[in-house]
Amino acid sequence: MNEKRLYLFSMISVSNLSKNYDAIQALKGISFGIKQGEFFGLLGPNGAGKTTTISIMSTLLEPNAGSVSIAGFDLKNNPTECKKIIGVVPQEIALYNELSAYDNLMFWGSLYNVTKSELRLRIDETLKLFGLFERRNDKVKTYSGGMKRRINIASALLHKPRVLFMDEPTVGIDPQSRNLIFEVVEKLHKEGMTIVYTTHYMEEAERFCDRIGIIDNGQIIAQGTLEELKSLSKISETIVVSFLNLSDSLYEKISSEWEGLTRTEDVVHFISSDVKRDLSVIVLKCSQAGLSISHIDIKKVNLETIFLSLTGKQLRD
Ligand SMILES: Nc1ncnc2c1ncn2[C@@H]1O[C@H](COP(=O)(O)OP(=O)(O)O)[C@@H](O)[C@H]1O
Ligand SMILES: [Mg+2]
Repeated sequence: MNEKRLYLFSMISVSNLSKNYDAIQALKGISFGIKQGEFFGLLGPNGAGKTTTISIMSTLLEPNAGSVSIAGFDLKNNPTECKKIIGVVPQEIALYNELSAYDNLMFWGSLYNVTKSELRLRIDETLKLFGLFERRNDKVKTYSGGMKRRINIASALLHKPRVLFMDEPTVGIDPQSRNLIFEVVEKLHKEGMTIVYTTHYMEEAERFCDRIGIIDNGQIIAQGTLEELKSLSKISETIVVSFLNLSDSLYEKISSEWEGLTRTEDVVHFISSDVKRDLSVIVLKCSQAGLSISHIDIKKVNLETIFLSLTGKQLRD
């Protein structure tokens, strides 16, 4: 399928977005499509342009060029229709500290076209979903960071959006809140919600996302499923073997039998396209050559190594 066709059938289509903040080119023409019900991860280091992208997609910021369409509505021409469809969880928590969680949700929920009685039901339901029903009447200022984050997400769900944007929703919170957020997000995805999730944690992108866009320096440098990204980056897994008795001549012997070896003192890296198949062969060949192995380590391909191979940089600061 060519790209244009894919975009026609997608829930979200982002096309050639550019954004400058004075001299800073935060987005340099980024494009991606997201299908209905898909969990799309935007993965990139700090300053890559994730928040700028999400802010434009949620009408909080105007791009210098490019367009976004959501469920067939052009964001610029039909912002009101788009806003009905999306729920936005901003990176910065937006809550009134002096109000209770309940009143905060009442405030945010009343911005949407939902009747008071329906809203009350939804608030109760959402508070329970996030494990905060018992604490609903406490002022938000008495909440932990993780609890505030949960209410922040809850407030984006009250109008039952079909599409949810979440901008780094687990940064700086306790493991208990993080796990609860993961559970809720997985549930929403299972129920068919389309989710756009930005993160700089590759574990999160690997765990949840159907497809991932890797963003760096205002550009999408690769996108696809994890498998597609793995093959795109052309890196292979490595079997790292430490020896007790590695000599130059023994190393020469095994390197004549195996492509792409590298050696650092007593440790040899064997590049492998199929670890299951190669591991036993390597062990056998080494023992036939008279080598004693002290340790074996398998380096998997993951988003961290993919990012490194594509950009030459670490994902983390
Ligand atoms: N309001 C702003 N004014 C000036 N520069 C900004 C502003 N917001 C973001 N930037 C810059 O734009 C780039 C992208 O930022 P951002 O979208 O926040 O990245 P991310 O969310 O991936 O960390 C960065 O270089 C950042 O410093
Ligand atoms: Mg950000």
